[in-house]
Amino acid sequence: MRPFDGRRVILGVTGGIACYKAVTLARLLTQAGAVVDVIMSRAAREFIGAITFEAVTGRPVAPDILDAGHALAHIRLAKEAALVLIAPATADFLARAAQGRADDQMTAVLLATKAPVLIAPAMNDGMWSHELAQRNAQTVRDVGYEVLEPEIGPLAFGEGVGPGRLPEPHVIVAHAGRLLETAKGLAGAQIIVTAGPTREALDPVRYITNHSSGRMGVAIAAAAWRRGATVTLIHGTLEVPLPTGATCIAVTTTAEMRDAVAAALPSADALVMAAAPADFRAADVGTQKIKKREAPPVIALQHTDDILVSTRSLRRAGAIVMGFALETTQVEENALAKMTRKGLDFIVANDATEVGAGFGTDTNRVVILSADGERETPPLMPKTALADVLLDRVTRALDARS
Ligand code: CTP
Repeated sequence: MRPFDGRRVILGVTGGIACYKAVTLARLLTQAGAVVDVIMSRAAREFIGAITFEAVTGRPVAPDILDAGHALAHIRLAKEAALVLIAPATADFLARAAQGRADDQMTAVLLATKAPVLIAPAMNDGMWSHELAQRNAQTVRDVGYEVLEPEIGPLAFGEGVGPGRLPEPHVIVAHAGRLLETAKGLAGAQIIVTAGPTREALDPVRYITNHSSGRMGVAIAAAAWRRGATVTLIHGTLEVPLPTGATCIAVTTTAEMRDAVAAALPSADALVMAAAPADFRAADVGTQKIKKREAPPVIALQHTDDILVSTRSLRRAGAIVMGFALETTQVEENALAKMTRKGLDFIVANDATEVGAGFGTDTNRVVILSADGERETPPLMPKTALADVLLDRVTRALDARS
């Protein structure tokens, strides 16, 4: 993933039960392209072995601050870091960080670094809500560290449910990515992204839909948030997890998606319409299940509204609108016609017959056409990478209009 490529991330692991999730976190960061240096507190070493982190990061765990031969390790680590991330951060660690202590490797690095710092606390709900823990969290926020709110959920065995859980590793990675992102051109922009298919009922148990998985739209929403935008994701049924950071609005039908887009559009700087709304609905939707033996041989269909066309008058002046076109023949010709018909600034054309592109895949190959007559042909790439290519275009177009 772009913001992590070759960047040095220090992962500080302190000694709480949520330590086990830090292994997945180290793995995800490494898979995203980061070079991960793990620092373990003494207590963390009681929960988990250093060798586990070495195996997933391919790098030795940092030495203890007083280990012979490593006198300046904390200074070197602090200088090389692009990001310092502490997850899980215990109540004890927060207290020591708030005091500016430097009596172990992690706190010493924290004082010595100029890199952004992200802290993900995890502890018992009673400990987290204690005034002293809250004060310590505020103190470290005041010096510019980002502190994630622990999630509400099941705590350690027998401790019930409450706020104190470490957010899932992919959520922490998303926040880390936002701090590492260098393309901040969407800061302050409001972006609507649509994703996934809509469904039109035939009766209470059956529906018409399509093969859209939502991957492309979710990747765009995630990347736009990482680049500083305020993101509203309007989505149908997704085959992938919701992105971190976006306000997500779930809809079922094309009419519901149209209404949600219409409500958000007047204040949006850009709309990226990556969803595949169902184009047809049944002319009569049965209120009872259609019995197999009584089913009509033909189902009468009606067109649903075209969302881009029917909400066009609600676009703010200067808003950038990007649509997609999934075609099986005359790809670019059809896409160009759609761009004109729907009043778009960009259309992203897909050939549905190409292997590794279009619906349901992790990769995509597209042609990006603009109303200005530009044509860009990025190679086949992961949808997560293509999201950045598309947002580069949106960002440039917004800059040109402001
Ligand atoms: N779209 C829309 N409302 C619909 C259907 C599609 O706003 N009811 C949007 C899609 O999100 C996409 C663009 O229009 O950004 C083109 O969608 P596509 O399915 O390729 O085209 P259609 O307009 O449905 O035309 P056709 O089925 O004839 O190819």
